[in-house]
Amino acid sequence: MEEKNPVFLVSISFAFLISFSVQTINASPSIPSLYAFGDSTLDSGNNDGLNTLFHSNHPPYGRDFPGHLATGRFSNGKLATDYMVSNLGLKELLPAYLDRNLTGGDLLTGVSFASAGSGLDELTIDLTKAFDMWKQLDYFHEALRRIKREVGGMKSRNLVEKALFVISVGTNDMLFNYYDLPRRRLEYSVSEYQDFLLQELESFIRRLHRQGARRFAVAGLPPIGCLPMQVTLRSVEHMLGRVCVEQQNNDSRAYNTKLQLSLLKSQASLHKAKIVYLDAYNVMMDMFTNPHKYGFDRTLEGCCGTGLIELGPLCNELVWSCSDASKYIFWDSVHPTQAAYLIIANAFQKTVLSHFNH
Ligand SMILES: *[C@@H]1O[C@H](CO)[C@@H](O)[C@H](O)[C@H]1NC(C)=O
Ligand SMILES: *[C@@H]1O[C@H](CO)[C@@H](O)[C@H](O)[C@H]1NC(C)=O
Repeated sequence: MEEKNPVFLVSISFAFLISFSVQTINASPSIPSLYAFGDSTLDSGNNDGLNTLFHSNHPPYGRDFPGHLATGRFSNGKLATDYMVSNLGLKELLPAYLDRNLTGGDLLTGVSFASAGSGLDELTIDLTKAFDMWKQLDYFHEALRRIKREVGGMKSRNLVEKALFVISVGTNDMLFNYYDLPRRRLEYSVSEYQDFLLQELESFIRRLHRQGARRFAVAGLPPIGCLPMQVTLRSVEHMLGRVCVEQQNNDSRAYNTKLQLSLLKSQASLHKAKIVYLDAYNVMMDMFTNPHKYGFDRTLEGCCGTGLIELGPLCNELVWSCSDASKYIFWDSVHPTQAAYLIIANAFQKTVLSHFNH
């Protein structure tokens, strides 16, 4: 057996430490691009040509957006991902991949492949007719070919490796499927259904990783029981006041705990993968508990219409809407206002930068 030379080993680790710290010192903002996958929380207009009820490309959606445009974003203005790309210094807005005005240059700094109504369970897609996660992945594959043509194979690999892949999905599987329809509830307990969703998510992350993705930021579920629509359903059912549905919030928290474990497992098993969890639940919960801290005075109702049920086609120009959406956490009965998205984006930004900015 060859004897190991301790001096040699020490000098190697010393050299490693030095090169490591030099790299850290030279660190610059190093996220060149952001790609988003999932549901309406990230969709900036991909559904516009789809035959689905999940449309928001009509006023009053977008009324506080630059140019007062209804782009297909489910909010009165920007989404969290718009604020994120702006905070990262990439651009002002994260466009939809299917935006007709999209250029090759837009692809290099990021686009959204997300589709309102999307979910991890095929049954959810049957209901909503959104693009499922696999279709979104196909579109990413297509985008990747365009990026390769634009900058060459080597640069495109490097770009994808450094890009941030943001995923937000799962709410619709609970909201429109598990809680509303009997089929999955007869097949699975809540916990089993959550495991099923997480398996789908794991395999989605694995397939993105196979395409070269390395940096992931995955949002957990919001407090689903506090979405105005859920609060309304409960108050009608029990003839009680408007309060959050505790059981559904508990389900969201249980899912989020499992999600964090699942992300750690994926990170450990995927080569060079770095996966962070984005805590939407507690950011939103703090808005409900301390609304005035954020300038909100309406918490469990949307700005659009009565704020109790309006969503998509029901939130339209014929219904009355509140005059100042910045006082509301919710824009419609499911989706946050841009004021709330800004707070969420700032919280996400802290998490992202603490993990990826070196
Ligand atoms: C695309 O560009 C046209 C012409 O510049 C503009 O009118 C339209 O609003 C743009 N569409 C989107 C979705 O930005
Ligand atoms: C929700 O969770 C809390 C805290 O763990 C617990 O005290 C409460 O009983 C749960 N509520 C329901 C409806 O399960």
